[in-house]
Amino acid sequence: MAWSEFNDHLLQLTLVSANPRLKPSKLEMAIMPYIKLTTQSELPAEGEAKEFELAGKTICVANVNGVISAMDNVCLHMGGPIGQGYIEGNKIVCPWHGWEYDPKTGEVEHDPKSKLAVYPIKIENGDVLVEA
Ligand code: FES
Repeated sequence: MAWSEFNDHLLQLTLVSANPRLKPSKLEMAIMPYIKLTTQSELPAEGEAKEFELAGKTICVANVNGVISAMDNVCLHMGGPIGQGYIEGNKIVCPWHGWEYDPKTGEVEHDPKSKLAVYPIKIENGDVLVEA
């Protein structure tokens, strides 16, 4: 990135910060920080989901066939705690009434237009980090 382009992005970031009604720029999205959620040893076992607190919010972490994913924990139906649900096939199932979610996309199985936020997740040196 050229220096002038960097300065333009910096200016845009400053403007966004000053006016929360503006949408975040691609650069701002690109530099959203990864935050430590837990340690690798605390992750759910394969075929299980678990809840974690992060900055006042509860995140559902699921282990579906060995793939770890993180998504919002509040079910779009009636607010059930998805992280207390169970894994069936490759879906996370809400424990209250059985709505199924795709852990990769956050989409509701029977209504793909409805979906929960999914957070990029990575493991570094035994720490589990999510982009929030
Ligand atoms: S609250 Fe999740 S299925 Fe009803």
